Amino acid sequence: MTQARTQAGKTNRRGFLSGAAKAAAAYTVLNSPLAGYLARAQSGQASKPALNLASDPRRPQFHLLPAANWMNDPNGPIYWKGRYHMFFQYNPNAAVWGDMHWAHAISPDMVHWKHLPVALAPTPGGPDADGCFSGTAVVRDGVVTFLYTGVAKASSEEATLRDGHNNFKETQCYATSTDPELRTWIKRPTPVIPTPPHGMQVTGFRDPAPWREPALYPDGWLMAVGSGEQKKGGAILLYKSPDLQKWEYLHTVATSTPKDGDATNPVDSGDMWECPDLFPLGNKHVLIYSTQGKVFWKVGELDSKELLFHEQQSGLLDYGSFYAPKTQLDKHGNRILWGWIPESRPVAEYSASGWAGLMSLPRVLTVGNDDHLKIGVSQEVEKLRKHEQKLHLAPIKAGDKQLLSDQRLKDACGELLCVVKPSSEPFTLDLLDATPPNDAPKDATTAVTSQVSYLSIRYSQANPGELVVDQQRMPIHLAAGQPLELRLYVDGSVIELFANNQSTCTKRFYYPGPTAPEIAISITGRPADITHLSLWQLSPISSDRLTT
Ligand code: FRU
Repeated sequence: MTQARTQAGKTNRRGFLSGAAKAAAAYTVLNSPLAGYLARAQSGQASKPALNLASDPRRPQFHLLPAANWMNDPNGPIYWKGRYHMFFQYNPNAAVWGDMHWAHAISPDMVHWKHLPVALAPTPGGPDADGCFSGTAVVRDGVVTFLYTGVAKASSEEATLRDGHNNFKETQCYATSTDPELRTWIKRPTPVIPTPPHGMQVTGFRDPAPWREPALYPDGWLMAVGSGEQKKGGAILLYKSPDLQKWEYLHTVATSTPKDGDATNPVDSGDMWECPDLFPLGNKHVLIYSTQGKVFWKVGELDSKELLFHEQQSGLLDYGSFYAPKTQLDKHGNRILWGWIPESRPVAEYSASGWAGLMSLPRVLTVGNDDHLKIGVSQEVEKLRKHEQKLHLAPIKAGDKQLLSDQRLKDACGELLCVVKPSSEPFTLDLLDATPPNDAPKDATTAVTSQVSYLSIRYSQANPGELVVDQQRMPIHLAAGQPLELRLYVDGSVIELFANNQSTCTKRFYYPGPTAPEIAISITGRPADITHLSLWQLSPISSDRLTT
C-alpha cells in the first residue's frame, strides 16, 4: 500500500517492451468445459489455463477486470447509445505490463460488465507500433473519437520516452468508430500531434484528455496532455483545436518544481505527470493527474480570458493502491471517476497468478462548500446488495475490544457501513481473518483466534483531523456533531474504503490457499457511539470470476 509498493505494481519502464511476450502462451485444452474459456482466449481475453483464474479466490467478483493477464489505466470511458463502454490498458500476452492494447468492456449500469474484443492494437509500422497508450473518448458530430498516445521506436533526438535500452517517440493519435457497439475503430494513419511543443525538452508526452466547454472556448476543443520538462518538473500542457485534428499548443495549466530524479524514470521522481483530466464541476474546475505512484487533485478556476488555471485547493485522491484515474459523465450527468487498482504483491507472484490489476468501483465526484473534492460511490453499486445484516453490539466496557460475535463476511465479497458519533473514547475497526479451523463443527460460530487484520482503522478526538488506516494517515474534517461514516467494499483481494466522502483508501490484501477467508469485524470504542452498522454480502457480477 505504500507508494513504493504501488509503483512496483508496474514493471519498470527500463524493461519497456523489450521483454514483452509477443507470442500468446501455448496451452492445451483437455476437455470440453474449457471450450468457453478457449473462445475467450482466442478473442484476446485469456492466455493461461482459465480454470485457475476462475477459482482463484483473490480475483475480485464485483469489480471489472480482464479474464486474464495484465491491465492498467482506464481509457476513454463513455456512455453511448444507452450503454457504458470501458476501455483499458491491457497486455493480451502476459500478466505483466507491456505490449499495450485497449481492451473493451460494455455495461448497462457501470456495475455488470461483458468483455468485447480488444478495441485498439498496435499497428506494425504505424505511430503506435510499440503501444497504444492511454487516452480519452469524446463525441464529435455524432461520431465517437479516441485521442490516445501512440508509441514507436525513434532516434535519440526525437525520443520522448527512454527506458535505458531503447528510445521511443510518443505522439497523439486519433481513431473513430461508427459501429453502434464501438467494436471497430478506424485509425488516422498519422498522429494529430507529432511532436511536443517546439523547444521543450520533455520528460514525457502522453495521455491526451480533450473536452468541450463552449463557455470557455466556443470554437472547438480544449485538451490537457501529461508532460514535464527536464530541470523544470512535471507539467500539464493545454492545447486547443477546432476539429480534434489540428491542435495548437497554448501553455501549461499546472507545473511543479524540478525533482531532478532518474532521467529514465521521471514519473517516480515527479518530473513527469501522467493521465491528466481537466473538467468543470459545479462552478469550479478540477484537475487530476498521476505521478510518483499517487493521484493528485486540484480544485480551482480556469479563467475564460487567458485559460489559465488558478488553483484554490489540492489534495490526494486516494491514500492506497490507486492510479491513473479517468472520468466520464454517467447518464444522469454525474461526474464518475474510475481508477486502476494495481497489485501490491511482488511481480513474480502476480505474473505467476496469470492476472494483475483491476478497475475501481465507479466513484462520484463533487466539489464541497470548502472547495475540496468529495468522493463517493455511485448508487448503482447498491444493486449488488443481498440481504442486509444489521449488526448489534453487546454491552461492553469502554475501551474493550468487541468482536461482532457471529457475523461473518463470507467469501471476501461484501460491503460494510459503520456510522460512529465521535466521543472521548478512541474508536477502532478491524477486519479480522475469522476462517474456522478445518476441524471446527459445521455451522457453529467459532471463536476468532487469528490476529490477522486485513485492515485497521483508527479515529481519536486527540487528533480529530485524521483517520489512521493501517499506518497511513488521511485527513478527515468532521463538523461539530457530525458522525464518522465509513463505507468499505471487500472483494477477493481488495478493500475500497470511503470515509465521509472526504478521504479514500484502496488496499490490496493477500492470503495463501484456495479459499477466501471469512472476515469478522472487531471494534473498540463506546457501543453507544456506534449509531449504525450494516453488513451486506454482495452479488458476484459473473458466475466464474471472469466478468463475462
Ligand atoms: C499510467 C501510464 C500512462 C501511459 C500508460 C501506459 O499508468 O504510464 O502514462 O499512457 O500507463 O500503459
